[in-house]
Amino acid sequence: MRSAARFTPPAFRSCSPQYWARSWKLLSVRRRLSSRASFDLSSKRGVNGSGYNLQPVPKKRNARKMESRSLGSTELMVSRLGLGLAALGRPGYINLHHAKDLGAQSSEAAMEHRAHCVLDAAWNAGIRYFDVARSYGLAEKFLGSWLRSHSISRPAVIVGSKWGYTYTADWKIQAQSNEIKNHTLANLQKQWRESASWLNGYIDLYQIHSATMESGVLDDPSVLEELARLKTKDIHIGLSLSGPDQTATLRKAMATILDGSRLFETVQATWNLLEPSAGPALSEAHAAGMGVIVKEALANGRLTNRNPDPGFAPKLAILQQEAARFDSSVDAIALASCLVQPFADVVLSGAVTAEHVQGNVNSFLLNLDGEAMTRLAALAEPAQSYWATRKNLPWN
Ligand SMILES: NC(=O)c1ccc[n+]([C@@H]2O[C@H](COP(=O)([O-])OP(=O)(O)OC[C@H]3O[C@@H](n4cnc5c(N)ncnc54)[C@H](OP(=O)(O)O)[C@@H]3O)[C@@H](O)[C@H]2O)c1
Repeated sequence: MRSAARFTPPAFRSCSPQYWARSWKLLSVRRRLSSRASFDLSSKRGVNGSGYNLQPVPKKRNARKMESRSLGSTELMVSRLGLGLAALGRPGYINLHHAKDLGAQSSEAAMEHRAHCVLDAAWNAGIRYFDVARSYGLAEKFLGSWLRSHSISRPAVIVGSKWGYTYTADWKIQAQSNEIKNHTLANLQKQWRESASWLNGYIDLYQIHSATMESGVLDDPSVLEELARLKTKDIHIGLSLSGPDQTATLRKAMATILDGSRLFETVQATWNLLEPSAGPALSEAHAAGMGVIVKEALANGRLTNRNPDPGFAPKLAILQQEAARFDSSVDAIALASCLVQPFADVVLSGAVTAEHVQGNVNSFLLNLDGEAMTRLAALAEPAQSYWATRKNLPWN
């Protein structure tokens, strides 16, 4: 069995001491503030006269460490939280404050150093699943250089990559075209060679990037047969989904049988408090043995305190009330709401800083109760409007 759990890791410290000192200070300040918030919650007045009769939740800090579980019916053991490198491999991305997070530091060398710092923070927190793609700029290269520089052996981590989009932004933040979709056999063969060369020997899972009904990729026998061929070479095969038709695409993928067995072993899909529409189909897929990887758990940064949209304020207030009740943070509540879904094997963090990693990992200490999930269900939007908003998020 391929297991990341049995490996005892060294702690990595490639970031500057000032960086860690600042992170630690921020965390200490937040802990002090949040313990005050939890004191307020125990009063009979509730929070700011909100009308919720919120009860303080017993503190569970340090009660749990990162768990692992098998990715569907594959033999891969994955940490429940993973790290996605979409925002770390290139200077431009759609997450809300990407530009602020990066500051002026967007040269290739600076981005590689940042990626390595965030990977170190993730590793130290127990994260052992890493998600990249051909189109995430130099994410595969940065992950490969980090794995090699720390002499991390293949059994210690599980790596998933994707093919189907080509990065076309030429290291620009705002480019005419950021990525081009191409789901042909020729592109699969080309991108597999490229992915394998950057991540020599490390790839466990290769996924179609954003398969949709319109792309026709699930109807192309030449692509499906090539994926089946890769599967015989000890590479697991999956697909990622995007857009309001995730459910239909997933059902089609589940019904794709080659040589008597289901071709796709895993699915990576968007599920978050704003866009939970794929939940029932993900439950079916999981029950049928597919591994499920949840992406965009924070709705590209919209489910954080930094969402400036005045229309989001009432939803943010609900998240903040739950964060206060659990003595935690908004991002951790949003991630915990994914972790609590029985279908979710891995939930991806899209952290761009070590502070993000710390905040995200706190989700693992929470056990959201039914009361919390009922209140948080009010955040859901119609899928069409969620995806329309996402489409208009500016690259920055
Ligand atoms: N089709 C696909 O296959 C597909 C599509 C999308 C993503 N993915 C995968 O999923 C991963 C995660 O997706 P994502 O990064 O797009 O979305 P996400 O996880 O929903 O959002 C991550 C963003 O949230 C903000 N954030 C995180 N922690 C925070 C904190 N503690 N405080 C404040 N803000 C915080 C940061 O953005 P800002 O600071 O910029 O606000 C961060 O970049 C990607 O890296 C990629 O691996 C796959």
